[in-house]
Amino acid sequence: MTTLFRYYDLTLDEIIEKVDKQQKRNKKRINQASLIPLDNVKRITNDFGENITRVDGEIPVDLKISNNDRFLFISYDQSKFTHGFHRYPAKFFPELPRWIIKRYSKPGDLILDPFTGSGTANIEALLNRRNSVGIDIEPFAQFVAHVKTTPINNEELIEYNEELVRTIINFHPEKISKEQLPTFPYVNNWFMKEIILELAYIKKSILELDCSTELKNFYLCCFSSIIRGVSNADDNCTRTVIRKKLNKQVYPSDALRRFVETLLLWTPKIIDFSSAIPEHYYIELQSKMDARKIEYGNNTFDLALTSPPYANAVDYPRTHQLESYWLGLVEGSLTPLKKLHVGTESVTIDQYKELHKIGIDSIDAVLQSIYNIDKRRAYICYKYLDDMRKNIIEVNRVLKPGARYIIVVGNNKIRGHVFENWKYLMEIAKDNNFEIENYFGSEIIKHFIKVPREERINTDWIVVLRKR
Ligand SMILES: C[S@@+](CC[C@H](N)C(=O)[O-])C[C@H]1O[C@@H](n2cnc3c(N)ncnc32)[C@H](O)[C@@H]1O
Repeated sequence: MTTLFRYYDLTLDEIIEKVDKQQKRNKKRINQASLIPLDNVKRITNDFGENITRVDGEIPVDLKISNNDRFLFISYDQSKFTHGFHRYPAKFFPELPRWIIKRYSKPGDLILDPFTGSGTANIEALLNRRNSVGIDIEPFAQFVAHVKTTPINNEELIEYNEELVRTIINFHPEKISKEQLPTFPYVNNWFMKEIILELAYIKKSILELDCSTELKNFYLCCFSSIIRGVSNADDNCTRTVIRKKLNKQVYPSDALRRFVETLLLWTPKIIDFSSAIPEHYYIELQSKMDARKIEYGNNTFDLALTSPPYANAVDYPRTHQLESYWLGLVEGSLTPLKKLHVGTESVTIDQYKELHKIGIDSIDAVLQSIYNIDKRRAYICYKYLDDMRKNIIEVNRVLKPGARYIIVVGNNKIRGHVFENWKYLMEIAKDNNFEIENYFGSEIIKHFIKVPREERINTDWIVVLRKR
C-alpha cells in the first residue's frame, strides 16, 4: 500500500519499513537476553581497579549482599511490555523492583510505592502476583502510570488502530477549529506552526474516536510521548528549554509520522502486557494523595519500595510541562504544583533567612556548610530532608511490623558539596522506628571517556529499612 500523506511527501510504507527495522532491533535485544547464561553473577574489576559484582539480566532472588557492596546491574527489560512507554526521569530499570518484590514479599501481598512516577514498581508487582498502591503528586505521572498499568482489549485495539492511522495519514488541517488550537504560555515559541496544527489534529482525531476510555488514554500516551521530540526544546534535558546552539531540526510532517510510528511500535507491547497480567490482582493509583500523608490505616502494607526525588534535582512539572499542557493536565502557572513536590526549589526569601536544622548532628553540619555559601539552597535541602522524614514516618506507620521499606536513591551535588541523600535518609530512618538491614550500591555507567570517576559513574544506593 502506498498511501501518501495528503499534505506531505511521506508514505505509510516508509513508516512501516522503519517500524519493522526497529522491531527487529528490539527482537535482537530480547534474543540476547535469552542467551544470558544461568550463571549471570560475576566478580569483575571495573576501569578503576575496583572489585564489583556484575549481574546480567534477572537478579537472583538469593543474591548475596553485604553492606557497602557495589553491583553493576545490566538491564535487558527496559522496553519489555509497557515499561518503555514514555520517557520519565529516574525511572527504575524493571529488574530492580522485580528483584526487591520477589525477595521481600510473597504472592498476594500488598505493596506500596509512595513516589510511583511512571509506575514501574506497580507493573512488576502485578506481573508477579502482588497487589499494589502507587502514589504520585504529579498529574502527568498519574496519567502515564495509569496507561502503563491498564490492559487493553486486543480486538478493539486493532480495529481502532486502523481507523486512527487512516485519519492521521489523511491529514486535514482545515478541520481543526480555533478552539482546538492550544493557547498555553509561549506555545508559538515551543513549536513550529505546522507542528502545532499536526499535534492539534492528532489530539482531535483521538478524542473523536468512539472507543473505550482506556484505549483513548493509550493513544493519548502515544501522542504525549512524541511531543518533546517535535518541539523546539532540547530532547536530552530534564528541564524543558530551547537551546539555540543545538540548532534542532524539526520538519513539517514529523509529528504525524512519529505518532504513527509510536502507535505501531507500542501496539505489540500493550498486547503482550495485556495477555501477561494474571487475573485477580489489582493496582490502585492514588491521584489525591501525597507521599507525606498516606491515607491508609496503620499496618496495611507488606512491603514499600521507591525511588524518591532528590533535593534540588529534577523539576518534574517543568520537565513535563509541554506534555501536561497538551493533555490538559495543568493550566497556567506551574508554581502551585511545583510547591507540592518533595525536592522543590520553589521557596521564598522568608523561609531561608535563617538556618533550619533537622536535629541530627551529622546532617545539620552539612546544612550549616551549605548555608554558609548559599542560604537558599540550604533551605531547599532542609525542606527536602524534612519532607522525606514525613514520608518515612508515614511509611513506617502503614507498614506491618517487621516489613521493609526499600529506598533507591543517589547522591547529588549542591554548591560543590556532595549531598549524600542515602546516608541522611538512613540517619532519619534510624530515628523513626526503622532499623537498617542493608545498604549497597548499584552503579550506572554513563560514558567511557576519560573523565574523573565521579562524573563517569553514578551510584544509586539501595537502602533496606525494616520496621521495628
Ligand atoms: C524518581 S521519580 C519516580 C520514578 C519511578 N520509580 C519510575 O519508575 O517511574 C520520583 C517521583 O516522585 C514524585 N513526587 C514528588 N513529590 C511527591 C509527593 N509529595 N507525593 C508523591 N509523589 C511525589 C514525582 O512526581 C516523581 O514522579
